[in-house]
Amino acid sequence: MSRVVCPGSFDPVTLGHLDVIGRAAALVDEVVVAVGSNVSKRAWFTPDERVAMLRQTCAEWPNVTVTLFDGLLVDFCRTAGVRAIAKGLRSAADFDYELPMAQMNARLSGVDTIYLPSSPLWSFVSSSLVREVAGLGGNVDAFLAPAVAEQVRRRARERQVPSG
Ligand code: PNS
Repeated sequence: MSRVVCPGSFDPVTLGHLDVIGRAAALVDEVVVAVGSNVSKRAWFTPDERVAMLRQTCAEWPNVTVTLFDGLLVDFCRTAGVRAIAKGLRSAADFDYELPMAQMNARLSGVDTIYLPSSPLWSFVSSSLVREVAGLGGNVDAFLAPAVAEQVRRRARERQVPSG
């Protein structure tokens, strides 16, 4: 059985992530979406919230599961019995960031990395830009599944600091 891990922070999951996950799911028997649980102080969503949003938005693909992981990704891969990581590449900057991680992961464990080129529809979309735009009152509906957009709007309102 062919199985890959799609790892990430997914804070929150975007349509760009979902495009890559869905395309990976069409190529292999099983995709394990692995949500890094090391929460940065700047994260908008808890690991459990991020997992819940992913489970909701990946429900259409029966061969996709979503789980949390902590520690080294290669240790998670070993435990899950997965030999390959699949990631999306939006740009040369992504490649520069991803290549050393892929080489380190391969050196540590032999786990290989497969890259899927991002659709040009989503190549400028990132979770961090979505958070920034939403946090400043911009509309990010075009970049998120409707259920995720609703949660982002709610979180943006909750994070607004009352003025005065
Ligand atoms: O959404 P991101 O920022 O691309 O996700 C990065 C993530 C979670 C995939 C990456 O930081 C990761 O693999 N973290 C686990 C710790 C680890 O294995 N570090 C060594 C990488 S070579």
